[in-house]
Amino acid sequence: MIRKAVLPVAGFGTRCLPASKAIPKEMITVVDRPVIQYVVEEAVAAGIRDIVLVTSNSKSAIENHFDTHAELEASLEAKGKETLLQSIRDIVPDDVNIISVRQGEPLGLGHAVLCARPVIGDDAPFAVLLPDVLVDNGSDRPAGCDLSGMLASYAQTREAQLMVEEVDWQHVERYGIVAPADEAPEAGSAADLAGMVEKPAREAAPSNLAVIGRYALPGSIFPLLAETPPGAGDEIQLTDAIEALRARRGVQAYRMEGLTYDCGQPLGYLEATLAFGRRHATLGKDFRSLMSRYRMPEDPACGS
Ligand code: G1P
Repeated sequence: MIRKAVLPVAGFGTRCLPASKAIPKEMITVVDRPVIQYVVEEAVAAGIRDIVLVTSNSKSAIENHFDTHAELEASLEAKGKETLLQSIRDIVPDDVNIISVRQGEPLGLGHAVLCARPVIGDDAPFAVLLPDVLVDNGSDRPAGCDLSGMLASYAQTREAQLMVEEVDWQHVERYGIVAPADEAPEAGSAADLAGMVEKPAREAAPSNLAVIGRYALPGSIFPLLAETPPGAGDEIQLTDAIEALRARRGVQAYRMEGLTYDCGQPLGYLEATLAFGRRHATLGKDFRSLMSRYRMPEDPACGS
């Protein structure tokens, strides 16, 4: 059973400027909590208990968010603000550990994951969750169920798993793209891969199934990462190390059932805000009525 996860949060977040100038992009709010909290909640809901944040020197706000704030707690307690107190105490369940390691230089996603090697070790399998992407399992399915499904698939097959979804062909060059060995997997199931490539040109893409940033990997990925040379964008790519792993022991794509929002860019935050806001337990009703005031496609203020 996979109980450990690596969350790489060291990047600059240039696609979110100016919002991400002085705060990490992972701390930008979606409805009532920072985007990173959704990702941690997804991991915890799927059974993860040790979360390794790979941070950099400008990311201490993330570590603080998951730490106890004794002064604030004492103040809320003294004022009898129980609901607010509980909301900050519940950010991390008692049986979950948040550990952070530093990535001193921005050498790529593969390098960021490699920075977690001393904490994870080469023997245990682990998950990787990229916090740019929010996974929405909808209101009818349990939180974190796509991730649970993928981790269960790893437990069954012992093969590395990459969560994928179909994207528009015109967007394949933004993602790692997989080549199914045979049939593409059905939603909620996994299939063997014949290869994968990081950010291919549209003509070179083997499919339009994109890696969305959820991985289940064996510890044996670490020695492969350590010898992976810089690839696309002159960065050490996780995709390249996984391709080397595939050649040795097979890798599968797990096709998700839910939706994703790319919170590495502003429109993704807006979409996530609409999706999570309208079904929020306390704010949802008012938010829906607020939204109804903005259903004015011919509003001249909206431009064309
Ligand atoms: C990373 C991965 C890529 C994946 C993407 C998902 O790219 O390298 O394979 O498809 O995340 O968001 P990045 O967006 O960090 O450039």
